[in-house]
Amino acid sequence: MASTLLKQILHPDSRPHPWDLYADLRREPVSVQDDGTHVVGGYEEITALLRDPRVSVDPGKAAAGGRIGTGTQEPGQAPPFLVRDNPAHDRLRGQAMRHFGPPELPGGVEGLRTMVEDLVRHRIDRLTGRTEFDLVSEVAYPVPVLVICHLLGIPPQDADALAHSSEDAVRGPEFQVDPYDPEVTAARTHASQELGTYFTAHIERLRENPGEDMLSRMIHDDGPRGRMSTPELLNTAITLFVGGHETTVNLIASCMLLLLRHPDQLARLQADPSLTAGAIEETLRMEPSVHMRARIAVDDIRVGDHHVIPRGSSIILNIAAGNRDPRRFPDPDTFDITRPDNAHLSFSGGIHYCFGAALGRMEGQIAVRRLVQRLVVPRLLQDPPPYRVPADLRGPSALHLAVDDVRAA
Ligand code: HEM
Repeated sequence: MASTLLKQILHPDSRPHPWDLYADLRREPVSVQDDGTHVVGGYEEITALLRDPRVSVDPGKAAAGGRIGTGTQEPGQAPPFLVRDNPAHDRLRGQAMRHFGPPELPGGVEGLRTMVEDLVRHRIDRLTGRTEFDLVSEVAYPVPVLVICHLLGIPPQDADALAHSSEDAVRGPEFQVDPYDPEVTAARTHASQELGTYFTAHIERLRENPGEDMLSRMIHDDGPRGRMSTPELLNTAITLFVGGHETTVNLIASCMLLLLRHPDQLARLQADPSLTAGAIEETLRMEPSVHMRARIAVDDIRVGDHHVIPRGSSIILNIAAGNRDPRRFPDPDTFDITRPDNAHLSFSGGIHYCFGAALGRMEGQIAVRRLVQRLVVPRLLQDPPPYRVPADLRGPSALHLAVDDVRAA
């Protein structure tokens, strides 16, 4: 097993059970690695850093030698707003958000509810007559992929190939045991090029023949913040595609995993479906879809009484460790779907707070509510399940279940 705490956390062997390593991480406000990366796992410290204007998301601001800004990141003509600081971040986020949801498009997210219900019903209907299946490939994966395709005007038949590229594209260098791993770098470059080629042609199609979708509206928008350039449109569309499904897949799979591991909580939910929203929030806290995010200090930053993160340093905020910080949450390792005061960090915080949180929550709630209603005596065939490779976007790659029956909708 690799040497430093961060490398142990990032190692694929740690995927099923990273929690003891996260507890080690929380022993100090900042855990400094041998490559100079500063890793933070405490709830209060992460919350403060997410909102600190001296903390940047732009890898170009990292000093040489750190894990972030290794030069293996894709340079990109117009990096997406996920990795831009203000003022560019606010302009681009605003240009996209006004075609997605409130306040500028009040019915935007809510208007997708019927479509999500239909999709979930259709995917569960397909399981009728089966007593064993993989919940990830049958429900957790296709639902968010098809929802984001709908939002971006992508024909459903293109979804599989695109989702496949996106898996390699998200393997960021900062979250690899070796940021320079040539195989991972080559796969990421290839996948990013494939996504770039597809979305360039797709944007041109929508420019000629706009639809009712969000991307068409962004392309043709002459709103108060002006038009996005073509590279900006391209990177925004790719970020929405990737961010819109990689995370929500993990949420649906992790929620079902936790419920099946805790039959008492599953029974409560079966008896009272109004607890579904609480089950989703508790899943987000305990098994978040995004475990860590990267940042750069653009000034010396004091954390706690004795630690200073020097300007230029790479910072990794381990929000999954923060979510189980016993100084913030009583009995943090207990799964309690009625937990009060569940202010987890799973959608981040500050100006990069998740753009799609309302949609991710809605998809998670609908999928879990219907699965709990319709699967008769569901049980896990494999625990722990196999996990996807990324340490940052962590979730089961498959969830093999047995059921006695699948009820009609
Ligand atoms: C359960 C579902 C989801 C989770 C857990 C999640 C989590 C996150 C997190 C942690 C961030 C912050 C990144 C940072 O601070 O560096 C983020 C940002 C973002 N998310 Fe989500 N997300 C989810 C669903 C979605 C959906 C459905 C969409 C699109 C419709 C989306 C689009 C984005 C975008 C565009 C950003 C960048 C925001 C910015 O930089 O201002 N996410 N998400």
